[in-house]
Amino acid sequence: MKPIEIEEIEIDLILDAMFKRHGYDFRDYARASLKRRLMHRVISENLSHISEMFPKIMRDEAFFKRLLLDLSITVTEMFRDAGFYQAFRETIVPKLRVFPFFKIWHAGCATGEEVYSMAILLHEEGLLKKAQIYATDFNSRALESAKEGLYAADNLALHEKNYSDAGGKTALKDYYRAMYQSFKIHDFLKEKITFADHNLATDGVFGEMHVILCRNVMIYFNQKLQTRVLTLFLNSLDHRGYLCLGKKESLFTTGVVDAFERVSREYSIYRKK
Ligand SMILES: C[S@@+](CC[C@H](N)C(=O)[O-])C[C@H]1O[C@@H](n2cnc3c(N)ncnc32)[C@H](O)[C@@H]1O
Repeated sequence: MKPIEIEEIEIDLILDAMFKRHGYDFRDYARASLKRRLMHRVISENLSHISEMFPKIMRDEAFFKRLLLDLSITVTEMFRDAGFYQAFRETIVPKLRVFPFFKIWHAGCATGEEVYSMAILLHEEGLLKKAQIYATDFNSRALESAKEGLYAADNLALHEKNYSDAGGKTALKDYYRAMYQSFKIHDFLKEKITFADHNLATDGVFGEMHVILCRNVMIYFNQKLQTRVLTLFLNSLDHRGYLCLGKKESLFTTGVVDAFERVSREYSIYRKK
């Protein structure tokens, strides 16, 4: 048997073990990037083969936590893809104005920059008081950072630029307190946000949302898992609710294409039919 085939078998066995032992299901993640992440852990632990991770997955909790962090890519920015927020202001905000109360779900919120960007946008549109925002991820460490809203100042210039390109109405510094080499999001922006653990591969519906954002998450999933997650979103959306995906993501190759109409091609915004 060729070595490449051995590796594929090893990956299948490791993924089964992770699911059976810990309940985390990576079996339908896009294979190439998954393999890169697994190999990264093999090298970091000075192991020779993927299958050497098997006993560690079974019995070494600290190892499993490190592996889980490797498999969760949390890269994000405030007002990432600034044009998306412009499109959101133009197309979705007017629809939200008619509701006395509305719910937004950020699925795969990572360390929270996206959800605070939304809270700022809604505040500037005078809508934050009417909002209930849910921000979920399966990475508990990322969720802790998100709740705290404390970020390294390194990327502040990028966040500020994104904010202004996104049509920000004042200055981003109005929304945080600058600290030594970091900045902390003001508490009033957190009041309408509930952070929660939710795994898109295994958990269920998150009820009656007016808008769901799941940006730059499904890019890591294969088509089968994308269809599962999109069906979950379809069932979690209110009548005529909006679904916002990442710029490089689309639902046109999945099983739910007929259930949505496209609102913005450039920013992957869809609406439930
Ligand atoms: C690249 S970040 C995207 C963050 C943000 N949405 C953005 O666009 O900037 C991807 C996030 O998806 C989360 N994620 C990956 N698989 C997940 C799953 N099965 N359930 C919940 N979250 C998941 C990761 O933990 C990570 O925080």
